[in-house]
Amino acid sequence: MKFFIDTANLEQIKKAQDLGVLDGVTTNPSLMAKEGIKGKEAINAHYKAICDIVDGDVSAEVLSVDYDGMMKEAAELVKIDDKIVVKIPMIADGIKAIKALTAKGIRTNCTLVFSVGQALLAAKAGATYVSPFIGRLDDISSDGLILIEDIRLIYDNYGFETQILAASIRNSMHIINCAKLGADVITSPLDSILALLKHPLTDIGLAKFIEDSKKL
Ligand code: G3P
Repeated sequence: MKFFIDTANLEQIKKAQDLGVLDGVTTNPSLMAKEGIKGKEAINAHYKAICDIVDGDVSAEVLSVDYDGMMKEAAELVKIDDKIVVKIPMIADGIKAIKALTAKGIRTNCTLVFSVGQALLAAKAGATYVSPFIGRLDDISSDGLILIEDIRLIYDNYGFETQILAASIRNSMHIINCAKLGADVITSPLDSILALLKHPLTDIGLAKFIEDSKKL
């Protein structure tokens, strides 16, 4: 299972990379805006800075919503670094773009996926990754984890190679449940990854070991 961090914040990315378990980064226009990045040059420079920190894939999202615009942006984005995966929204033009980019050997991440039907289309088009947003489904009293389970079943039925990238992670239990259900990747804020470290018995046990080590 791969661990990606879902942020455009360079400090958070560095911290996750330093932990030694980071496999990649996902960003989106909202996360980029949160960092105050404006204009194409600044955006591309920021993607490059992220690529220079991490060893794995870096998802960079297109801003266009039409086929030609997405293809043009994708061609520019992949020039930034070999680590770039082009993030494309789940719309009809997006599916067409994923199909065409896959044919050119460009890796894609189909984003804003909320149903199995959408995930099936992404896989048919040849997306490298599909990003079901589980937290946003939970937010509307739906069940994001059932979506992961259903996509896993369908992809396994037909041997689709598209990797399930569980996105919109809200807590460490989301990560654990995605692992149980066979998601290939989770993309998460740093806090939810760090929360996996925590157990009170670890803290109590370590305190005792430290105390007893003084007797040695
Ligand atoms: O990057 C896509 C996704 O992870 C967004 O998450 O927290 O905005 O629902 P969130």
